[in-house]
Amino acid sequence: MSGAHPTRHHARASARRWRSGWAILLIASALLTSGVGGQEAPPPAWAYPVMDPGFQRPPDDGRKHRVPGSASELTQTEINDPFNPPDWYPNEHPPMPPTVAHGRRPDVRACGQCHMPHGLGHPESSGLAGLSADYIEQQMIDYRAGRRKSAVPARAASMIAIAGAATDAEVREAAQYFSRLKAAKWIRVVEAETVPKTFVGAGNMRHATPNGGSEPIGQRIIEIPENSELAELRDSHSSFVAYVPVGAIKRGQALVATGSDGKARCAGCHGPDLKGVGEMPALAGRSPIYLARQLMDFQRGVRNGVYASLMADAVARLNERDIIDITAYLASLAP
Ligand code: HEC
Ligand code: HEC
Repeated sequence: MSGAHPTRHHARASARRWRSGWAILLIASALLTSGVGGQEAPPPAWAYPVMDPGFQRPPDDGRKHRVPGSASELTQTEINDPFNPPDWYPNEHPPMPPTVAHGRRPDVRACGQCHMPHGLGHPESSGLAGLSADYIEQQMIDYRAGRRKSAVPARAASMIAIAGAATDAEVREAAQYFSRLKAAKWIRVVEAETVPKTFVGAGNMRHATPNGGSEPIGQRIIEIPENSELAELRDSHSSFVAYVPVGAIKRGQALVATGSDGKARCAGCHGPDLKGVGEMPALAGRSPIYLARQLMDFQRGVRNGVYASLMADAVARLNERDIIDITAYLASLAP
């Protein structure tokens, strides 16, 4: 190596330079294809629960079920009726218009089945209470026009079918009903190292496995009913708990305050308390796994409604961990 063969030395050095150049290129292209924001990664199962293959609901034994504080008695088959879903506490909300209470056969299932009479919804659908009627109508138009889909197509299939079949008048009466409801605390956010082991059952709802023990949370949000039995009965007093990684809420607060790029501050559009303004939906106190799915759907371009481009900067630089932190924080806020 004494310089006796300067050209060979030079060749080796430039080969090294080439190799490190390639290494940089490879790293850069790996970052691009994995998407700095994680756009290309497969959608994570924690955010997009889909019923476990082979899961079967136990057959209806004909028993009449009751829930605390309600005079009604219903069989599981009655509870699962998409055109007459349970309304356990009819005095706790304004009268439901026909589209919300019953829908219309064969394709417009009652909105109240999944979003519930009080509009707080289940984590596998979404909360609609208090969203503006304009926003709700616009989303229905976007589903119908094929602009709003999900990274896991099965997750939005029911909404696409319902929005496609519902008339404008039906959409309007439902939108007005849900917009007049008040959002309320419905999800308890808990930072945890470990979470119950879970399974995904009927209707894509995640539940704790009975006597299943626990496992590390990892980088996930695990959102389950406080009481699976009552949630299965669609008891609209039966709320949810969302386990989030330790430290997520504080990190999320910082990301929400500055925006991921230091510019796209969430409150700039979603309102000072993140409770929504006009076409900008509320974020505070809503299901973290629902919100996470939406951020990932915007990133992947499958949620591409008329106003979705306004979210482009906000999601461009978020990775999966940012999304966990942001949605943990948002869900922890008072709705
Ligand atoms: C079978 C269950 C089911 C029924 C019935 C149902 N929805 Fe949904 N809804 C969902 C699911 C699941 C989502 C989330 C889909 C996604 O990820 O885009 C959703 C999302 C929505 C959204 C978007 C909310 C947001 O914050 O952007 C609106 C608006 C909506 N539904 C309105 C309605 C209306 C109006 C009806 C009745 C005409 C209805 N839904 C009936 C399951 C249902
Ligand atoms: C420039 C305005 C703007 C900024 C900044 C912005 N958003 Fe949005 N956001 C919107 C609009 C508009 C929509 C509705 C998009 C649509 O109709 O498809 C939306 C929708 C959403 C949704 C879907 C809610 C639902 O009900 O489905 C989430 C989640 C969300 N934003 C989170 C955030 C977060 C987190 C930030 C900050 C990192 C942020 N947004 C910053 C304008 C904005």
